[in-house]
Amino acid sequence: MADTLSHIKAPITDEMARFDAIFRESLSNNGGLLDKMLEYIMRRGGKRMRPILTLLVAKAFSKGKGAAEEDNAVIFKALHAACSLELLHTASLVHDDVVDESDQRRGQASVNASFDNRLAVLVGDFILATSLREVATADCGAMTDAVARLGQTLAAGEVKQIENISCEDFSLENYFEIIDKKTASLFECCCRLGALSAGAGEEQTAKVCEFGRNIGILFQIRDDIFDYSDSKAIGKPTGNDMWEGKLTLPALHVLRSAPDEIVALAHKVKTFNVTAADISLLMAYTRAHGGIEYAEKVMGEYYAKCMDYIAGNIPDAAIADSLRMYVDFAVGRES
Ligand code: IPE
Ligand code: IPE
Ligand code: MG
Ligand code: MG
Ligand code: MG
Repeated sequence: MADTLSHIKAPITDEMARFDAIFRESLSNNGGLLDKMLEYIMRRGGKRMRPILTLLVAKAFSKGKGAAEEDNAVIFKALHAACSLELLHTASLVHDDVVDESDQRRGQASVNASFDNRLAVLVGDFILATSLREVATADCGAMTDAVARLGQTLAAGEVKQIENISCEDFSLENYFEIIDKKTASLFECCCRLGALSAGAGEEQTAKVCEFGRNIGILFQIRDDIFDYSDSKAIGKPTGNDMWEGKLTLPALHVLRSAPDEIVALAHKVKTFNVTAADISLLMAYTRAHGGIEYAEKVMGEYYAKCMDYIAGNIPDAAIADSLRMYVDFAVGRES
């Protein structure tokens, strides 16, 4: 995995090194317990999917544009935008583990498990505010507006996800609305901020935003498939979604033609009134009836849209290659 990621990052090696320094600096020197928690969070960095996308898009649209000062300004904006988005992502993970009562993240105890829920909420707030400071540094109203709106959309998606637990129907429409808000909106924003950094035009920006959104949707579908796996490499608990009352694409698909007793089990999941045996049965039924294959097929449709976008819109060969590898990685990753 590290190897694939380093190939993806090849056109932005310098920028990623600068990103790492800015990211670390943004969360440093706060003293006491706060520093202890922030250090703990930074100990495991994650894959950096969001800053990589932001920087690749900025580079795609700024390449060969002109004067060194102009390029420096693009990079400055893109770096702070990338940092803002990785911070917002990090805050959302810290809060997500509180909401999902999850005790593991990136191969170590989650912040809520290692400290407690109160501290996880507060340090998540701190990181969220740091994200806003970073985007403010880029000094572009449209970017600040996009990040603030993104924060709203992510939270709205999480609320909708909880609201949906008590909704009796197993609609794919609700599922796609939730993943669009809680995950795809962030990937979309990476592309928007990358494009804004480079001063891309409206049409170019709209198209790359759609590209980002498609990546985000397939990224979350892959994550939801992970929940059906028992690989330790994932670095976070699996088999959790149903315990949280959540039915994701693989199960939703098979439920469209499942016998009554399976549908009854799915309703039981939504009432939090299930046993481990119920969950195993529903997961086994989903696996045996093509739920995973269906979710992979849908991912394939989004994958094709992403590849079409790259072929038609990214003339720089090195950046296009990286973006292709990025999308391949989002689909085929193992964590
Ligand atoms: C996890 O995102 C949250 C989802 C949207 C599924 P990542 O898998 O990108 O998390 P890290 O940053 O690499 O840990
Ligand atoms: C992913 O939701 C989107 C986030 C806001 C983190 P999940 O709850 O599925 O994410 P993981 O599986 O815990 O990373
Ligand atoms: Mg979670
Ligand atoms: Mg969650
Ligand atoms: Mg998940």
